[in-house]
Amino acid sequence: MMKGPIGVFDSGYGGLTVLKELIKALPGYDFLYLGDNARTPYGTRSFNVVYQYSLQAVKYLLNQHCPLVILACNTASAKALKNIQVLDLPHIGPDRRVLGVIRPSVEKAAEITRNGQVGVLGTVGTVVSESYPIELEKWSGGRIVSTVQEACPMWVPIVENNEIGSEGADFFIKKNIDNILSKDRELDTLILGCTHYPLLIEVIRKHLPPHIEILEQGRIVSEKLVDYLKKKSDLAQRLSRNGETLFRTTEYPDVFESKAALFMGHPVKAENVHL
Ligand code: DGL
Repeated sequence: MMKGPIGVFDSGYGGLTVLKELIKALPGYDFLYLGDNARTPYGTRSFNVVYQYSLQAVKYLLNQHCPLVILACNTASAKALKNIQVLDLPHIGPDRRVLGVIRPSVEKAAEITRNGQVGVLGTVGTVVSESYPIELEKWSGGRIVSTVQEACPMWVPIVENNEIGSEGADFFIKKNIDNILSKDRELDTLILGCTHYPLLIEVIRKHLPPHIEILEQGRIVSEKLVDYLKKKSDLAQRLSRNGETLFRTTEYPDVFESKAALFMGHPVKAENVHL
């Protein structure tokens, strides 16, 4: 089988926070980023719609010869990953791997919490799916005492519409932080369960008591992927390594290029694709 890049998928720009850390953790590897900017946000869509959209994205990335695809989107990881792994991958790519961002985050939360009281901020879709409480229960080795969640439906539009430093952003971020704190006054670990949220980190930090540890997924996912590839050397050998990153979007490439350049810290070239 021919070698290919690591596919990284998100509904929009959020997955770039993961991509950036992946490039640092796996220097020399090739990446193909796909943002479904035309159909973002996914967070308020039904289970079936998120599954269908995510499956189209995965098929696209497999057709581009990606041996491994990361769903760098919690909503897709919560609502589509299981189905894709169990129902689709055996037909469309039995020798490929599709991984999500929830399990690594959950394992990390279990490692660092001191009192076992964890909070999760996410999209409506991620919160309603209950994926975090279920996975925390399953993968934390009994370390988690309680999980509280808060859906933050305004945060992704704030990021996607470049309102990050605005008064409106501050208002909604404070509101959701106050809400989650009122659900558990003792929580010591807060998972940013949406890949868009690290872009709001300064405002989040401002409204949060300093002793609360914030988990950003970019670094966690890349740390865990490095370990995973050490164990799966056959998969690692099928990943191409020319130090190249390509960007694809379902919307205007020039808009994507200017926003992505801000997130990545250097100019990027993007191409438009139809899924
Ligand atoms: N960034 C994605 C997530 O992690 C999705 C946001 C959205 O499209 O609503 O959940």
